[in-house]
Amino acid sequence: MTSASNRGVIFQGAGKVTVEAIDFPKLALGERRCDHGVILKILTTNICGSDQHMVRGRTTAPQGLVLGHEITGQVIECGRDVEFISVGDIVSVPFNIACGRCRNCKEGKTGICLNVNPARPGAAYGYVDMGGWVGGQAEYVMVPYADFNLLKFPDREQAMEKITDLTLLSDIFPTGFHGCVTAGVGPGSIVYIAGAGPVGLAAAASARLLGAACVIVGDMIPERLRQAKSFGCEAIDLRQDATLGDMVAEITGTPEVDAFVDCVGFEAHGCGHDHSHEQPATVLNSAMDLTRAGGQIGIPGLYVTEDPGAADKAAQKGALSLRFGLGWAKSHSFHTGQCPVMRYNRALMQAILYDRVDIAKAVNVELITLDDAPRGYADFDGGAAKKFVIDPHGSVAA
Ligand SMILES: NC(=O)c1ccc[n+]([C@@H]2O[C@H](COP(=O)([O-])OP(=O)(O)OC[C@H]3O[C@@H](n4cnc5c(N)ncnc54)[C@H](O)[C@@H]3O)[C@@H](O)[C@H]2O)c1
Ligand SMILES: [Zn+2]
Ligand SMILES: [Zn+2]
Repeated sequence: MTSASNRGVIFQGAGKVTVEAIDFPKLALGERRCDHGVILKILTTNICGSDQHMVRGRTTAPQGLVLGHEITGQVIECGRDVEFISVGDIVSVPFNIACGRCRNCKEGKTGICLNVNPARPGAAYGYVDMGGWVGGQAEYVMVPYADFNLLKFPDREQAMEKITDLTLLSDIFPTGFHGCVTAGVGPGSIVYIAGAGPVGLAAAASARLLGAACVIVGDMIPERLRQAKSFGCEAIDLRQDATLGDMVAEITGTPEVDAFVDCVGFEAHGCGHDHSHEQPATVLNSAMDLTRAGGQIGIPGLYVTEDPGAADKAAQKGALSLRFGLGWAKSHSFHTGQCPVMRYNRALMQAILYDRVDIAKAVNVELITLDDAPRGYADFDGGAAKKFVIDPHGSVAA
């Protein structure tokens, strides 16, 4: 492959992203050779709520970072050591980068691979503290350990037909599904999902796929709640001054749920008259209030170890004020961390290809151009009930 041009979305500091020329990817990360990697021409690449934490200045992300970890593409070059992926394959890239060789990868815990980030377990493309791998809100990207990481779609034409659904396999669909699985959702469950952003909506669609009897979604953005209702969920507007238990009881008759999924994370706002103020522990505390004794709490919402924008000193180090005794007394189990996307993406791909789920419709995908990415970031931050999917080469729109 001769060197070609590339463009990507760059973090310029709090509140600002731009689209700039960037290097064409190499099969390397600095001095580290990646003969096990491939280069992808990107078909679709999504903007995530996790990117917003950086863009809102709530992390230590460095200026100049190429953003983007939700990548779907076509293989245009394979490294020397790639055996089972070929040029031309259309693939979904799990946002977790995993070596497939370490103790955690061997146990299926690909969100905390030990060999891809010198600073801590776990890596991702284009993310602060996640190993320095170049992001994929771009035209081209390099994916290491390609045989292990990539999910190949069975048929190109079928994949292109469903690409706005399949693009969600790189992160939010598996993440929402994992939130529900770890919360113990099954047939007949009463489920509460905190947050009606794209992850919350994906979790709500997943809960329905898993057979939940009643899926209740709480948020304080009416447009997002309407989106949850559009596919059969109950919605709770948290701007009301009532306890969450009472609002749930109005729907089900009981102030508790079988399963609770936190799709909010550390930038959580208070409820009722406090809804415009941040209360980072509020969702976790309401999880312990609302979940039945013996129930499980799935926590895909992100919590951080450093938050320069937190209101108090403790929260700046990720220390939150939890009523942990309540969760202990009720024998709750808590499930945290990055979603190990690979555990679910193949099965969820089949659910899409066989029309068992309309995930793009549930999260309200809007396709945009690469040049429109800054607008996508701004609208998303403004609370749009949309999942923005960038089509950098116009391959989908065409
Ligand atoms: N674990 C993982 O692997 C993983 C993967 C992707 C995203 N995430 C995280 O999941 C979270 C959600 O992502 P998203 O893209 O949907 O982001 P988002 O910011 O669009 O959604 C968060 C929603 O929570 C709402 N909210 C705020 N306080 C609330 C409260 N107290 N109760 C209920 N809702 C409240 C907000 O109004 C917003 O609609 C983020 O923290 C993101 O970083 C984690
Ligand atoms: Zn994401
Ligand atoms: Zn590993």
